[in-house]
Amino acid sequence: MKQEAYNNIETWFNNYIAGFEIEIEEIKLNINLKRNHTFRVVELIKELSQETDMDEKDVSLAQISALLHDLGRFEQLANYGTFSDTEEINHIQLGISTITENNILSELTEEESNIVIESIKYHNELQLPKTIDSQLLPFIKILRDADKIDILYIVADYYSNNKQGNNKRLEMDLSDKPEISKKVYQSIIGEKLVNFKDVLTINDLKLYQMSLIFNLNFKKSYKIISEKTYLKQIFETLPKKDLVIDMYRQMKIHLENQL
Ligand SMILES: [Fe+2]
Repeated sequence: MKQEAYNNIETWFNNYIAGFEIEIEEIKLNINLKRNHTFRVVELIKELSQETDMDEKDVSLAQISALLHDLGRFEQLANYGTFSDTEEINHIQLGISTITENNILSELTEEESNIVIESIKYHNELQLPKTIDSQLLPFIKILRDADKIDILYIVADYYSNNKQGNNKRLEMDLSDKPEISKKVYQSIIGEKLVNFKDVLTINDLKLYQMSLIFNLNFKKSYKIISEKTYLKQIFETLPKKDLVIDMYRQMKIHLENQL
């Protein structure tokens, strides 16, 4: 039953994306990038679920959350031309509004809809509040990991195979200055996810993305990231300063310790 609901929502999703008429090439490219990201996150949910006691119905529900987790990104890109969340334009709020307005979760029970909405809400919060319902937690955790793994895939590929400036939106319009923020360094040496507020340059952004490994929940997530060598790929595009080498070493040790 939930698989059927997933299929119907996927059909809606594909039509929704196809409905954007975009003329700017870079926006088109980024819509496509987000669409492909979405489907890879859906697949990663299946892979990670092997480490959980989720049944088939739960996995389908988690895959519905994955399918819709970045829904607001499409409108954000199409109408505002950016990946940056601000107080007024936030991809999570945009996505949840679209879900509600279009009644996308009508085939789900109230409890299931709540799981989907809450998973979307918390998928990229820096820290999860301690008060989250224990029934919800596995759904939120699996989406958070799947999303982070695929973000690392996208950026490792982008930095390795593109000239800086090729995709300004993916670089969050940050400057290409050589500096690395002190707070970024402190977070990583303390084995903590960098706060996005401390990201001031493209180098900071790369390090922030690498630091996503400090916020994972599943052994399998570490395994995938380690096997695919995402950290190494990003590191190779950073300036080889002592500070950077220290941070890379710290992250590599952290990753290896989780395997
Ligand atoms: Fe995402």
